[in-house]
Amino acid sequence: MTAPLINDSFLRACLRQPTPHTPVWLMRQAGRYLPEYRATREKAGNSFMGLATNVQYATEVTLQPLDRFPLDAAILFSDILTVPDAMGLGLSFGAGEGPRFAHPVRDEAAVGALRVPDMQRLRYVFDAVASIRRALLTRDAQGREAGRVPLIGFAGSPWTLACYMVEGGSSSDYRLVKTMLYARPDLMHRILQVNADAVSVYLNTQIESGAQAVMIFDSWGGVLADGAFQRFSLDYTRRVVAGLKREKEGRRIPVIVFTKGGGLWLEAIAGCGADVVGVDWTVDLAQARARVGQRVALQGNLDPMVLFAPPEVVAREAQAVLDRFGPPQRGDGGWEGHVFNLGHGINQHTPPEHVSALVEAVHAHSRVLRQQRASES
Ligand code: CP3
Repeated sequence: MTAPLINDSFLRACLRQPTPHTPVWLMRQAGRYLPEYRATREKAGNSFMGLATNVQYATEVTLQPLDRFPLDAAILFSDILTVPDAMGLGLSFGAGEGPRFAHPVRDEAAVGALRVPDMQRLRYVFDAVASIRRALLTRDAQGREAGRVPLIGFAGSPWTLACYMVEGGSSSDYRLVKTMLYARPDLMHRILQVNADAVSVYLNTQIESGAQAVMIFDSWGGVLADGAFQRFSLDYTRRVVAGLKREKEGRRIPVIVFTKGGGLWLEAIAGCGADVVGVDWTVDLAQARARVGQRVALQGNLDPMVLFAPPEVVAREAQAVLDRFGPPQRGDGGWEGHVFNLGHGINQHTPPEHVSALVEAVHAHSRVLRQQRASES
């Protein structure tokens, strides 16, 4: 667990330290767009939870995108909904459908019965983290044992989890969860407090098990009204962040907060205690950098649908994202940091060859930008 990293560019960028290129990883980088993922899923009885609860398979699937593309980070293969599942809500993924909870949380009795789950029920996640860390070990140029890239752990934000817990699955209008928020804010606050406590211990246990950075997915923060976002989403994300262990193995554990649709609230999100703020494709990275780049690193933000265009277009669009941020510089608040990513998860129909073109373009063009900057000064 104490072996050094061969490629620590992702951790360095998160902590706003200089890197030779802009590190890149992709939200949902292990998944159905890869034929090898579909093959492993088949072996696991064609079930997502069958894959996620089997340490061997979860490890295999996490490593698949890294064996294909020179990505700068690995992300644990699991799901944000493992936490409400461990609370007893009964998660299932129907064939070709989204997630479903057998016991959604819709009334006072259900809210009152909600508890932080026993972390033993999530043992399979922590075992997967430890197993992936071991599988990432290799030998460096001097023959010493070293990690290939860092491993990211993750969880859903208290609000995003509440959306699924109340709706009972995915939703197009968030009617049930917003009805509870407006009509019974007391019940909503109680759900969010239990979720915040659960997510804190869940992430801390992932860190104990070997996660080298953690990301909080606030995928549905952006559906909230101004004012409601701050009180029902960001306040609870802040509580989670405040409860996290920030150092392990002598290194700082970066915390990334991603709020889809959160561009209007960038300053507030940057103040929640995270090291990195993830942004979706509606955000101009030059403006985001000017607004918060001296306080946090930024992660993002290519539209995942760009990956359906021909590889030369993919490369050009990736360059445009890098150009908008520009090469990281030193300012009054220290160095700046950019982690390249998509603005949301990769689509399941994405051609894998286009992902190769993307990763190659990010590495090549970000090196060129750094050389240009160096020769200017
Ligand atoms: O990034 C990675 O590669 C790690 C794995 C990961 C998954 N889910 C695997 C998964 C991560 C980080 C998640 C997070 C997640 N899960 C979020 C937050 C990110 C986001 O996209 O906003 C959310 C909202 C969920 C909930 C969820 N899980 C939904 C709505 C679905 C079904 C729709 C879909 O995209 O497939 C899932 C299932 C799921 N989680 C799959 C994968 C690879 C597909 C399941 C399958 O193979 O059938």
